[in-house]
Amino acid sequence: MVREPSQRDRRQPAGMAAPATTARANVNLALVKYWGKRDGALNLPATGSISLTLDGLSVEASVAFGGGEADRVEIDGAEAAGDEVLRVVRFLDLVRAETGRRERALVATRSTVPRGVGLASSAAAFAALALAASRAAGLALDPPALSALARRGSGSAARSIFGGFVEWRRGERADGRDSVAEPLAPPEFWDVRVVVAVTSSAPKAVSSRAGMERAATSPFYPAWVAGAEADLARARAAIRARDLEALGLLAEHSALKMHAVGMAARPPLLYWRGATVDCLDRVWKLRAEGTPAFATIDAGPQVKVLCSPDDASRVAEALRAVPGVERVLTCAPGGGAEVMA
Ligand code: DP6
Repeated sequence: MVREPSQRDRRQPAGMAAPATTARANVNLALVKYWGKRDGALNLPATGSISLTLDGLSVEASVAFGGGEADRVEIDGAEAAGDEVLRVVRFLDLVRAETGRRERALVATRSTVPRGVGLASSAAAFAALALAASRAAGLALDPPALSALARRGSGSAARSIFGGFVEWRRGERADGRDSVAEPLAPPEFWDVRVVVAVTSSAPKAVSSRAGMERAATSPFYPAWVAGAEADLARARAAIRARDLEALGLLAEHSALKMHAVGMAARPPLLYWRGATVDCLDRVWKLRAEGTPAFATIDAGPQVKVLCSPDDASRVAEALRAVPGVERVLTCAPGGGAEVMA
């Protein structure tokens, strides 16, 4: 949940008049995927989605308004340029429009998410940025409004505002006000693990946004959208019952459907590599041998495996032994976005 700041962060980025506000948010892993938009400009999803926020993989964003001719963006200590800046400037414009402020801002983000591990740091970045920028601009947004703002930066960021198990509602309104995330269960409700097998740390070839546009050309896309409500209902029930097998099978099914849609798109879209398939196969073997482990894959070649804390080291070891796996990391459920004191 969004925590109230105990005091405003007084760290001062060089050359800016106003003090900076700093916020941090964790990445999240979709168990029922968001894959398709009903409105690209407002970033409204075609379906709802359910995720788990992960501990320890986070982005910290500092924002200071005032001074300067143009917005400046630093990512991990280096001045950003091009599309990355444009995306942040557009996002700051939303905050400025809301408050009537016109000052430019200095934004500095720092990530603990290793690059190329296939966990969307943009979700954590825009959740942290939504909180830091709105506070720096003098806005005290409630969690749903923060989630709606984060969504405009990156859809999956709407979910990283909250910790634990989170549902992002599709919403019905054309203005998107009801397309916000809400917590289903806090991180301490259910102690599970996500083991990530990194099969390639190269940057992804097709962005999520471009991938979703392509997915919409697939003959399977209407079936994907039509099946979402049933998947969401099953996932909610499995989380409520802390039923790992039910949730895991459902998450695997959602991911494989998402990728099947892409394979039948025109032009085709396949994020997998050989090692991705080998990891999937290893997970299925683990299951056949009696270890409840369930795979999911996002817009990249990495395989993320849901399992119990007791089985996490066995799963990690099995995945590490798959040829082509570069590294393996294990995450527990994590908390929501917070302003840092
Ligand atoms: C496969 O949130 O990165 O990870 O809204 O265009 O920024 P944009 O897309 P993004 O897409 C995430 C896609 C996914 C599934 C998910 O996280 O639900």
